[in-house]
Amino acid sequence: MHRTLEEIEADALQCRKCELCETRTTVVFGVGNPDAEVMFIGEAPGKQEDLGAEPFIGAAGKLLNRMLERAGINRPDIYIANVLKCRPPGNRDPRPDEIQLCSPYLREQVRAIDPDVIVTLGNFATKFILKTDKGITSLRGQAYTAGKFYVLPTFHPAAAIYDQSKLALLESDFDLLGELLRVARERKAAR
Ligand code: URA
Repeated sequence: MHRTLEEIEADALQCRKCELCETRTTVVFGVGNPDAEVMFIGEAPGKQEDLGAEPFIGAAGKLLNRMLERAGINRPDIYIANVLKCRPPGNRDPRPDEIQLCSPYLREQVRAIDPDVIVTLGNFATKFILKTDKGITSLRGQAYTAGKFYVLPTFHPAAAIYDQSKLALLESDFDLLGELLRVARERKAAR
């Protein structure tokens, strides 16, 4: 039996396993539909998320919203979480020890939500879910299976803000996501 999201969140809100607890404003656990068919995983909260206690509410979140619309997905229907639940100071990269200490929360979230499709946004989420050392540029653009999940790796929206050449690729990955969701729904209906 897995724990409920509420039980996992209650634990995470108290977390003092790494030093990020000293500098965070809030723990950004995750938000969305507990029965979501698609779960998005980002890297770590940024400044806006640290203040608002919700993933992807800053500039990267705005671009994510545009991409969701493109794929025909309503944001309240999905679940969004990050690899790290607390903001690294200055938005530096997550450290391996922080990822290791924080990862039980994400693993439990995935188990509780049990989505059909996991979209990994950027290198950190992709490496964590696909257990690979390959970079996002070579992995994106196609779906993989990991256990019973489809996994669709794509660029982190923040990367597409800084590098406009990635925007068309991000868009094409979200078009693929729309298609993948149609296939997953058809497979479910046929069961
Ligand atoms: N970047 C992330 O990876 N996650 C957020 O929640 C916001 C920005």
